[in-house]
Amino acid sequence: MPHPNPPPYEDALVLLDADHKLVKKMFIEYAGLVEDDGPAAARRQLALKICQDITVHAQLEEEIFYPAVREALGDEGLIDHAEEEHAQAREKIAQIQGMSTGGKRMDDAVKELAKMIDEHVLEEREKVFLQAQYADLDLRGMVPGLVARKKALQAQGGEMKEPTKKATTKKKEAA
Ligand SMILES: [Fe+2]
Ligand SMILES: [Fe+2]
Repeated sequence: MPHPNPPPYEDALVLLDADHKLVKKMFIEYAGLVEDDGPAAARRQLALKICQDITVHAQLEEEIFYPAVREALGDEGLIDHAEEEHAQAREKIAQIQGMSTGGKRMDDAVKELAKMIDEHVLEEREKVFLQAQYADLDLRGMVPGLVARKKALQAQGGEMKEPTKKATTKKKEAA
């Protein structure tokens, strides 16, 4: 009988890297849809799902993982740089979410976002994750908090798929 719940993550790095892998898989799926000239609506739906998942992931890192790493390593530059890359990705995500229809423009923006995220994840694994592994950090103990916060963020983000909500998002950003 299949287990109803996914297996618990071994530590924070495994949990976060599972997000990275899932997002990568969706970017590949998107590129496949573009190549096969798949329906613009399906592309748009997938693009918005990618944007949402990255947003949740970035927020998780910024709220829980990055502050812990920052404190343990005492390396401000490393995390400042990662957060700067998140900010750049968010700008690209806002562009994509602001597009009312799928198509060439969205395809190009998704491709750019894929490149940004690829580079960020590579660096994150090689620098942040690697150093976190050897730092005085309770990576296992971080898992329950990450899982709970992720669920809450997903529940919020799950309602932001439709373009009608765009105005609300913009207002929130301006506030
Ligand atoms: Fe990150
Ligand atoms: Fe990440």
